[in-house]
Amino acid sequence: MRLATPPGFPTEVFVQEVPAAELLPSGPWALVGDAAVRESWRAAAMPEPPCAIWEGVDESRKRLETILPWLEDWSRIPLHRDATLVAVGGGVLTDLAGLAASLYMRGIAWQAWPTTVLSMADAGLGGKTGADLPTGKNLVGAFHPPSRMVACTGFLATLPARQAESGRQELVKTALLLGDQEWAQEVAGEGPVKAAWIERALAFKAEVVHRDPMEHGERRVLNLGHTLGHAVESASGYALLHGEAVGIGLLASCLLAESEGLRPFPASFLDRLAARLAPLAPQLPTWEALLPWLTRDKKGTGLKPAGSEGVQIRCILPRPGESALQQLLPPSAWAEPYARVKHLLQGDPARA
Ligand SMILES: NC(=O)c1ccc[n+]([C@@H]2O[C@H](COP(=O)([O-])OP(=O)(O)OC[C@H]3O[C@@H](n4cnc5c(N)ncnc54)[C@H](O)[C@@H]3O)[C@@H](O)[C@H]2O)c1
Repeated sequence: MRLATPPGFPTEVFVQEVPAAELLPSGPWALVGDAAVRESWRAAAMPEPPCAIWEGVDESRKRLETILPWLEDWSRIPLHRDATLVAVGGGVLTDLAGLAASLYMRGIAWQAWPTTVLSMADAGLGGKTGADLPTGKNLVGAFHPPSRMVACTGFLATLPARQAESGRQELVKTALLLGDQEWAQEVAGEGPVKAAWIERALAFKAEVVHRDPMEHGERRVLNLGHTLGHAVESASGYALLHGEAVGIGLLASCLLAESEGLRPFPASFLDRLAARLAPLAPQLPTWEALLPWLTRDKKGTGLKPAGSEGVQIRCILPRPGESALQQLLPPSAWAEPYARVKHLLQGDPARA
């Protein structure tokens, strides 16, 4: 099914169960895919162009070094400017492939065929592409939207449970951004991820990205949970998955919003979210380990107003029943919410 997107939106978005060859490029194309889904792609009788690249990737391989051989391969084929790259895989693969597409011949078209919950609900859409540096996540990249995104939920059949759980947190994020408490409660609850949730998250992201493609203002709200989340992910040495770290960031954001005087979330919701995240408790870095990553977050403003303690960070504060707010706060503002997250994950109820 093709999703309705705003007029002029650069990406056609499809959500369906089974992949369909007619959605592949009609002209010359190349494929780079995650080796974890090669068998599923072939089992669905999906074609491959000559010299398709299937590569095992995870966050540790989200580096510029990974894409250099791809670029060299394409130049040897040779792939021309009229070619379209098809990227099949999770968010690491689609972020890297989109970046490679933006660089090759100064930019060729590409399609995202996401295969994880996280990449279907979020990473495959919106045009942000990137790679990590040793100093932080996604520190290099380009805005280069895919011409088409095809989310085939059938690929999720082979996705490990931990990955599905991790991706679910980006759906919780969307529910919190919308201020839809009922939906947030449902997504944080039991039961499998629904295709309708993915469609809703994509429709929302398309609207926001269309109004602010380069993240000059409104789009920053999509970083809800990511300020602390990226720091947790990096400080854990990537022992925590992206979505897991975002989940920690989401819970902390709810608590930070409360400590900034905004309307508190129901304890039942905080406890439910904490229960989902509880298995991560032993891997959470100390606040001291986290702080340096927070202060170098690329979404920090770098502003150092006189008399302040230093860098201010853009924080997204969710509110039940209302859309989220943006606020500049010092990194230290996260210390107390982070300590509360740790307590909640250990089973202390949200409200005594
Ligand atoms: N561009 C954006 O707007 C955006 C938004 C959110 C997250 N991201 C990025 O997305 C990345 C995380 O993506 P992810 O959670 O998809 O992780 P991932 O790409 O690392 O995939 C997770 C694991 O699942 C495997 N896998 C993928 N699909 C599979 C399937 N169908 N069956 C079995 N195994 C499968 C992969 O090989 C990998 O080991 C992070 O690097 C994050 O920065 C980007």
